[in-house]
Amino acid sequence: MTGRLIAPERILVTGGAGFIGSVTAHMLLWRGFDVTVLDDCSTGHADSISPNAKFVHSTLLNKMAIREALEGCTSVIHFAGKSLVNESVTHQDMYWEINVEGSRNLLEEMHDANIGRIVFSSSASIYGEPESIPIAEYARVQPKNPYGKTKLAVEGLISDETKSNGLAGASLRYFNVAGALQVGERWVGERHKPETHLIPNILNSSAAEPVEIYGSKWPTSDGTCIRDYVHVIDVAEAHILALTALRPSTHAIFNLGSGRGYSVREVLQTAAEFLGREIPQVEAAEREGDPAVLIADITRAQNELDWHPTRNLENMIQDCAKSMDFD
Ligand code: UFG
Repeated sequence: MTGRLIAPERILVTGGAGFIGSVTAHMLLWRGFDVTVLDDCSTGHADSISPNAKFVHSTLLNKMAIREALEGCTSVIHFAGKSLVNESVTHQDMYWEINVEGSRNLLEEMHDANIGRIVFSSSASIYGEPESIPIAEYARVQPKNPYGKTKLAVEGLISDETKSNGLAGASLRYFNVAGALQVGERWVGERHKPETHLIPNILNSSAAEPVEIYGSKWPTSDGTCIRDYVHVIDVAEAHILALTALRPSTHAIFNLGSGRGYSVREVLQTAAEFLGREIPQVEAAEREGDPAVLIADITRAQNELDWHPTRNLENMIQDCAKSMDFD
């Protein structure tokens, strides 16, 4: 199928009970799309799914369930997968099975059902230690951990399908996603257990459990790691734009970040100003596998998708705090 999507078409959102998937599913419904969510709720939460979505409670390892979930769909946004770097080191096989074999199952079932459009949730971890900053999509890919390797492998599967079967694909390589979406009275945001991400860890910190700064001797201006934070609403919006821009036999790759970096200390400072209090913090050892600086070049998404991040770090901290209060 070519051309722009005209609602209502039904979109399968795999991983639609997770953080970014659930926000995207809500926004698709608001735009008038029909949505089916496929999620095993191993890390996602069923109560993050809109009652207006059809819900298939299963994993991508169950091909029958994928077939059921694809019924009536014209496109897929594929978020489902494991996404913890440390866990990927200790449970490599699980990451290859769920992320890669699960995606292979999905692509096979899409092919059999004649559904030829997919937007994939990829990651900046694919780049590994960057050779230069900011990082453009054509930069060398050399993931440092199994998580990034599985994301790269799935991008490869999508590329193969675009070449051999005319699939229309897009992979969106996220940098650091944060924030939350207000849905009526409630908030849909990060609810990871365990939580490893910097912004929720800052908001959860207390005198008894201060936030740990992973390394203070990095080759950066203040010695702490620099990352590119982007609001989950902007990321979800990029998926909807990418969906409408899909072209047959083409695998388009887009970085999603804000295009500017903040050090860990700058994030702490912004959070302290927003909360109006000091953030309890301690300096800790470097976290293995962390690159010093990751900042996206987002020119391609700006030019080709007309995508522009609309929310800043303070918005991310504020919305993350609201979603955590709601929990
Ligand atoms: N950090 C701390 N203390 C914490 C948590 C994090 O100092 O308690 C630091 C990290 O060392 C890093 C920065 O804050 O420098 C951000 O760390 P996050 O854990 O929030 O995010 P990452 O940059 O490690 O990872 C994110 C996504 C991954 C993705 C990666 C791509 O969570 O899925 O970006 O670069 F692979």
